[in-house]
Amino acid sequence: MQAVYFQQLTQDLKQQGTGTPQLILDLARYHANLEMVQSKLATAQLKPRLVVKSLACMQLLQVASEKLKTERFMVFHLPHLSDLLSRFKQADILLGKPMPVQAVQQFYQNRSDLNVSYPPTHIQWLVDDLERLQQYLQLAQQFKLCLNINLEIDVGLHRGGVSHPEQFSALLELIRQHPNFLQLSGLMGYDAHVAKLPKVLKSPEKSYQQSQQTYQRYKTILQQQFPELWQADLCFNGGGSPTFMQHCQQSVCNDLAFGSVLLKPRDFELDLLSAFHCALWIAAPILKILPYSQIPGLEVLNRLPHRYKAAFIYGGYWQADYIYPEKSQPHALYGRSSNQEMVQIPKHCAVSTDDYVFLRPLQSEAVIPQFARLYAYHEGRLTAWETCRE
Ligand SMILES: Cc1ncc(COP(=O)(O)O)c(C=O)c1O
Repeated sequence: MQAVYFQQLTQDLKQQGTGTPQLILDLARYHANLEMVQSKLATAQLKPRLVVKSLACMQLLQVASEKLKTERFMVFHLPHLSDLLSRFKQADILLGKPMPVQAVQQFYQNRSDLNVSYPPTHIQWLVDDLERLQQYLQLAQQFKLCLNINLEIDVGLHRGGVSHPEQFSALLELIRQHPNFLQLSGLMGYDAHVAKLPKVLKSPEKSYQQSQQTYQRYKTILQQQFPELWQADLCFNGGGSPTFMQHCQQSVCNDLAFGSVLLKPRDFELDLLSAFHCALWIAAPILKILPYSQIPGLEVLNRLPHRYKAAFIYGGYWQADYIYPEKSQPHALYGRSSNQEMVQIPKHCAVSTDDYVFLRPLQSEAVIPQFARLYAYHEGRLTAWETCRE
């Protein structure tokens, strides 16, 4: 099945490809993943928020946005913010990490230099501690703005954010004192540790429940001790991909961030995500094929029987696994190369120069920006989509 698929893709690339490494999106699989997400969200009280760094291509985001009927995005990189604002007029953007105040200043500076009136867009700046909130307050006063502030809470990942109630109250107090410049827009608690902890330490069910309890404790403090900051439309964001299914079953959040699951690179090959398909490949042309690998200085090995031939490909050393031809792999002694990587291919495989090898990225966020274009592959046709490279 996999062989037939990649042989067909090879034929299509030979006719329409660029003869250079290409990043391929299987559009049918992407749609199937979107449909799966849609069906799971249908019964949950959660609004979908697309993680831009994991889907860093405006057309990829556009397809997902239309299918899931959402213009909610989570942004991690300042240039992505401007790209989104010009494309999605109703965008509701939550920053996924606390931006240095200098970056926020740059953003508002550029927008006023361009003399663009601030769009009615909703940007929620993520704040993790008091010092940063004070910096943002000063900036809001300087630019005569009221900034939407979303507070990062530590629900067990221990990547910073609010980690105890006193710290939380101090942040809320400062917001309460400056209603003209700061407005609380919600909370964000990322639970990536849930699926990553070794099961012997804690089961994913248990660590999910604990992270949810922590989240709920902060919500309760907010509602009971700061009722004037509590509003019906606060954004309680959680996620992302590894806990997508758990949130859909039961969640204290009302806003769920995810991105990678829609492309399912190898790092997301998890039991809980078995209903999703990998939709992203790297295709790299084979430049040369030698009957077997020859290791400089170890020519003595040449006389041994060989199970693999040695192909040299265009490019290499991506954060990706070789997946076709099956059982292909880099050589442990020859080493990796980003220019012309040697790949060992089982001897019986009928491949030749100008054929392609295929790799499955480990992550989409690391790999997409390495390519200027993503090629949407659908019914034998390849269509180029620009990626967000900056
Ligand atoms: C704050 C936050 N939320 C959600 C996500 C989930 O993104 P993805 O679903 O692409 O893994 C991430 C990923 O880094 C994140 O940092």
